[in-house]
Amino acid sequence: MTMNENLFSDRGRKIVVVGAGAVGSTFCYALAQSGLSEEIAVIDMNKDLATGQVLDLVHGKPFFPAVSIHVGGPSDYADADVVVITAGAAQRPGETRLELLKKNAAIVGSIVADVVEQGSHAVLLVVSNPVDVLTHLALKLSGWPRGRVIGSGAVLDSARLRHILSSRCGIDVHNVHAYVLGEHGDSEFAAWSMTHVAGMPIDYYCPSCKRCSDWIGERDQIEQQVRDSAYHIIDYKGCTHFAVGMALVRIVGAILRGQNSVLTVSMLLDGEYGLADVCLSVPCVVSRRGVDRIVESPLDEREIAALEASAAVLKQAIAQLGIVA
Ligand SMILES: NC(=O)c1ccc[n+]([C@@H]2O[C@H](COP(=O)([O-])OP(=O)(O)OC[C@H]3O[C@@H](n4cnc5c(N)ncnc54)[C@H](O)[C@@H]3O)[C@@H](O)[C@H]2O)c1
Repeated sequence: MTMNENLFSDRGRKIVVVGAGAVGSTFCYALAQSGLSEEIAVIDMNKDLATGQVLDLVHGKPFFPAVSIHVGGPSDYADADVVVITAGAAQRPGETRLELLKKNAAIVGSIVADVVEQGSHAVLLVVSNPVDVLTHLALKLSGWPRGRVIGSGAVLDSARLRHILSSRCGIDVHNVHAYVLGEHGDSEFAAWSMTHVAGMPIDYYCPSCKRCSDWIGERDQIEQQVRDSAYHIIDYKGCTHFAVGMALVRIVGAILRGQNSVLTVSMLLDGEYGLADVCLSVPCVVSRRGVDRIVESPLDEREIAALEASAAVLKQAIAQLGIVA
């Protein structure tokens, strides 16, 4: 076993969750049940909220695998394996993710400063929206290698796409492989060229399935449904938190277990797909140190144009924020 493979075995797997609101607390709940970590530190500027969430969670300990859950502080960053940033303002009805930019940039910036000050060796996973822009900001402020500062990106959106395809096709979601790429937001797109149902590329599967007559038209509808998912859920109940909490467990699990999982996390591009100086979702191999490498799948012309359009939207937001590349 190499030193890298042994990275987490000499101490507990420790996750720090910053932000104990809907997303942070749901993630803690799912993480505690997963058995992936031995220690979860919960930090929130609202100390009463952090305390209440921790008390509520620890009362579930008889039903979880062994895990220490406690209210944390900046010193917890020092020996953390993954720091998950969910702090910030939640998206309000009608509010675009980019409108949240300035509010959440200041919050994420102050958290990254604390993490760096503690000499942390963690992987930083940004969840707060707009996640691609804030991942870029966190990376620049940290000065860390790009694979170590990543965003949850379109992992959730890819799960939504898989779910919708699964129910339209009548095929187990585990036999549907599909990826949403680009911005986690209005310019995201489904990479149909990478989509497989029952092991078949979707262009072969659809004509054989016969469940829908106009499957090209259906695809546009499905893509829009994925894009609008968060808006609909927020209209119904004010926030989204269950599926994103589980998506975060998937990403953190891939890191802690060194799984080399292909996930559409948000990652700084450095020439891949002809793009640079922008964080967005592309297929990434996620392992112990965060993103190990980007998989440059051969996208078709429409998808390349959509990726470029997403990059343009995000670069504009980065410019608005004045992040130096
Ligand atoms: N990337 C995704 O897929 C995805 C999905 C859902 C939500 N989100 C985003 O996650 C974020 C959190 O959403 P939520 O519904 O949990 O919001 P929430 O309002 O319920 O919780 C946010 C928490 O952050 C805390 N906070 C604010 N500033 C802080 C600071 N400086 N330090 C520590 N804690 C601080 C607040 O006190 C609050 O408890 C939002 O930005 C939301 O848009 C992202």
